Amino acid sequence: MELKELVAIVTGGGKGIGKTIAEKFYGEGARVAIWDIDLSSAENLAISLDPSGDRTMAVKVDITNEGEVANGTSEVLKKFKRIDILVNNAGISRHRPIEEMSLEIFESVLKVNLTGTFLCCRAVTPIMKKQGGGKIINIASLGGRTGRPGVGINYAASKAGVIGLTQTLARELGPSGIYVNAIAPGPILTEQTKQYPAEVFATWNVGRAIQKDGLPEDVADAAIFLGSARSDWVTGVTLDVNGGILIR
Ligand SMILES: NC(=O)c1ccc[n+]([C@@H]2O[C@H](COP(=O)([O-])OP(=O)(O)OC[C@H]3O[C@@H](n4cnc5c(N)ncnc54)[C@H](O)[C@@H]3O)[C@@H](O)[C@H]2O)c1
Repeated sequence: MELKELVAIVTGGGKGIGKTIAEKFYGEGARVAIWDIDLSSAENLAISLDPSGDRTMAVKVDITNEGEVANGTSEVLKKFKRIDILVNNAGISRHRPIEEMSLEIFESVLKVNLTGTFLCCRAVTPIMKKQGGGKIINIASLGGRTGRPGVGINYAASKAGVIGLTQTLARELGPSGIYVNAIAPGPILTEQTKQYPAEVFATWNVGRAIQKDGLPEDVADAAIFLGSARSDWVTGVTLDVNGGILIR
């Protein structure tokens, strides 16, 4: 029970990696607020984890919408009275070759992945300061670390931005006891990525040292570490979780 009694928000928690983070956090004893733009997926998960509703809640939050982020934050405070962990997991990708990438497509990915992360960090900061601390975990990507095939320049730029935001926010908030770290997953098998042909998934894994595909659980375990007291001298880092595709 690494997260017993702690209150965690997981953005984009209704599906994919975020869903597994929410499940594993719940299993470690946390009270979990599942935020998603798709309310029904968040509600289904909240109810399936805890039919009594005591330790889970679902809120419709589009992380690009300041009002919805503010409302989600107050809902969590109203129900759970505090916020110990924020996992900024919600993210999208819209890949096009540069000549076909419109300004709208470019900016839409930055808006969710980077601006949305900023808005959620800003919303919890005064609460964590008042409590004397907290842990923010931003889900970046291997694509923000190094040039990758098939990622998209908008996605790569947004995730590199998340890493920069993480480093500087860790300096800014460290004196207030707030930790800010990131996880940079390599290719992870989710319902969505499973739809790609195996050959395509294999191309994303070229050079991998560990002969095992990446699973949402691998990211969730790293998030448990960064959300728990086990990482109490770790801030500003981006933890590579990629089976050794990138070793540096
Ligand atoms: N799957 C991978 O291989 C992989 C690798 C590296 C990093 N990541 C990152 O991990 C995170 C989760 O990825 P995933 O593969 O589980 O994605 P996914 O598409 O399976 O799930 C994303 C979730 O976020 C929600 N969401 C999307 N836009 C939102 C918004 N504006 N506000 C609130 N919720 C929103 C979706 O409804 C969905 O529930 C993303 O940040 C992604 O960039 C994924």
